[in-house]
Amino acid sequence: HLQDQEGLSEEGKNFFSILPKEKGWMGSYIYNYQGFWASPRTIQGVIACQQQFHAQDSDIIIVTPPKSGTTWLKSLLFALVNRMKYPVFEQNHPLLVKNPHELIPFLEISLYVDGCVPNFASFTSPRLLSTHMPFASLPKSIQDSKTKLVYLCRNPKDTFISLWHFTNNLRLHHKDMHPIEEKLESFCKGVSPYGPFWNHVLDYWKQSIEKPKKVLFLMYEEIKAQPKLQLKRLAEFLECPFSIEEENCGVMDEILRMCSFENLSNLEVNTNGKLSNETENKVFFRKGEVGDWKNYFTREMSEKLNDIIEQKFQESEIKF
Ligand code: A3P
Repeated sequence: HLQDQEGLSEEGKNFFSILPKEKGWMGSYIYNYQGFWASPRTIQGVIACQQQFHAQDSDIIIVTPPKSGTTWLKSLLFALVNRMKYPVFEQNHPLLVKNPHELIPFLEISLYVDGCVPNFASFTSPRLLSTHMPFASLPKSIQDSKTKLVYLCRNPKDTFISLWHFTNNLRLHHKDMHPIEEKLESFCKGVSPYGPFWNHVLDYWKQSIEKPKKVLFLMYEEIKAQPKLQLKRLAEFLECPFSIEEENCGVMDEILRMCSFENLSNLEVNTNGKLSNETENKVFFRKGEVGDWKNYFTREMSEKLNDIIEQKFQESEIKF
């Protein structure tokens, strides 16, 4: 197969030639498929996953828009769900030697990427998985089963700044930065990876209201503000609440300490390690703070995004 710069065969090129396209954040173009924007590689992973993945009722799937704190939530979820198998006070906890993305892989950009056929035999139950897919594009078996979805989003301004840094870092063959105004323009038009951002958030928020046993809606800022309360909520949602003894022994505090930005970002695996796709683990840890957007946004940029946020979220109870 002849491949173009996006790695597409002739057949792939024909498929993508009819989709709307815009300048990409990492590769040359992103395309609109089923109402969201993504690279050809990601869209192919989404399609493979939609065709092949069979959800089990016991599966737990983390869903996020990119740069919402996925790495943090993966660590918290892994530590929480596996706390009997891997007690958090022990020295050899997997989170101390593996990046959270290795422990909870992405469906479409890791397990089903590039035509891979995942082998789930090595997964224990419950299977812990993750995705950035919008609700409407989730494989049908995820929507129809009792699979639990843990959704996490973050203030759009911080999400944007985190995404801008991340994509600047990961762009191949580029040393320069994307002009921030240009990328904000794209973000505001909805043209960002898995965007429009608002549709992603609102669709899962609606699901969390309609099906509170299936979808838990979390926000990065809320976990930062009340980590213990949110961890407790997560445990209750997953039907593995903390016992009184655990609370008294400080298990929750220890999970939060182990999964803190400070602790994870300084581990050897996360300073010098790489994922199997060669991505350096350190790119997932930048500042880990709320409100870093203030260091980058002009008043004009802030007002522009405020107007959109107000308009898009006015009918919801989401307050960013
Ligand atoms: P910043 O770029 O604002 O620092 P994702 O994991 O979805 O890719 O999101 C990455 C963002 O989460 C980055 O935000 C990163 O620094 C932050 N992050 C990573 N680990 C974290 C942790 N343990 N606690 C809080 N924030 C974390």
